[in-house]
Amino acid sequence: MAEKKIRTIGVLTSGGDAPGMNAAIRAVVRRGLSTGLKVKGIYKGYSGLLNEEITDLTGKDVSDTIERGGTILYTARCAEMRTEEGQQQAVEICRKHGIDGLVVIGGDGSFAGAQKLANLGINTIGIPGTIDMDIACTEYTIGFDTAVNTAMQAIDKVRDTSTSHERCSIIEVMGRNAGYLALWCGIANGAEDVLIAEKYDYDEQNLINHIIESRKKGKKHHIIVNAEGVGHSEAMAKRIEAATGIETRATILGYMQRGGSPTCKDRVYASMMGALAVDLLAAGKTCRVVGYRHGEFVDFDINEALAMQKNVSQYMWEVCDSLSHNYDKNETSLKR
Ligand code: ADP
Ligand code: F6P
Repeated sequence: MAEKKIRTIGVLTSGGDAPGMNAAIRAVVRRGLSTGLKVKGIYKGYSGLLNEEITDLTGKDVSDTIERGGTILYTARCAEMRTEEGQQQAVEICRKHGIDGLVVIGGDGSFAGAQKLANLGINTIGIPGTIDMDIACTEYTIGFDTAVNTAMQAIDKVRDTSTSHERCSIIEVMGRNAGYLALWCGIANGAEDVLIAEKYDYDEQNLINHIIESRKKGKKHHIIVNAEGVGHSEAMAKRIEAATGIETRATILGYMQRGGSPTCKDRVYASMMGALAVDLLAAGKTCRVVGYRHGEFVDFDINEALAMQKNVSQYMWEVCDSLSHNYDKNETSLKR
């Protein structure tokens, strides 16, 4: 892509919100201003862009936002942006408002929109913002740390009552098709079982056998962390209760995982990524997505980033499994 000098940048948040998005917006605004750029905030993602919900942002406009969850620019999903007409219109609106550089904070879908705008001549940079951590080019996405801590704390609480009642508890965590939130909670909460779409073989009888054996060995609770990608926790709870005779309850954590004040890690990573996005635009770069890899903040071509695959670490999965199953080889095997 040809490098082009820019004067005014826009920033929007798109797709599901994530704690830390405000820290990223703040960084874009303040780094932009300090680089001599004008900064415009675009409300409600691509939808607000197409409706021209655009305003100038000052450094003061982002005061008192770094500690707040959600996104002060609001977010939306926008079907029109998937069409060529919508993308052409978005470019015309950017030009009308003098926006020659755009920072898009969101997930892969949002980056696909940014890629289309880049192809049509608007310099764009993506920042990974999603609690799902499912963006292949980066080891970290804004919001994951807060969300996984929120889920971990909630699961600790369910565990207390599960133990008191000697129940089996299935706790469903978000993540869309990706099992990162579930796997991390599985390890952090010491769950007896973790079900993620990437690894679960859907052999429910095996799971039931495990619950029964575990109870025979004196376990007072049985915590199953179930990823959204596997889902159907309520129905699963009914089947497990019928098969084992052990009271089983399902808890779907839901949207609470997307809210709350961002952790230090989310604030710092979001600030670094926001600043890097502006630095790339100021250097005339376009069609890039920023990320974090091997201890560094880096950037990739969006086309390459979208083509990358991300897999759950086999080693992490094995460690998770070995800490909840078969850890004492002298005991009767808890075969899965
Ligand atoms: P996320 O960014 O979290 O992956 P979505 O997949 O819902 O969330 O995408 C957010 C928005 O990005 C969509 O509502 C749409 O406006 C835009 N988008 C998604 N895919 C494309 C695409 N292929 N082309 C253009 N815009 C897209
Ligand atoms: O991408 C974040 C996420 O919370 C996923 O974990 C979940 O599948 C999805 O968004 C829910 O989206 P919505 O806000 O449209 O219900």
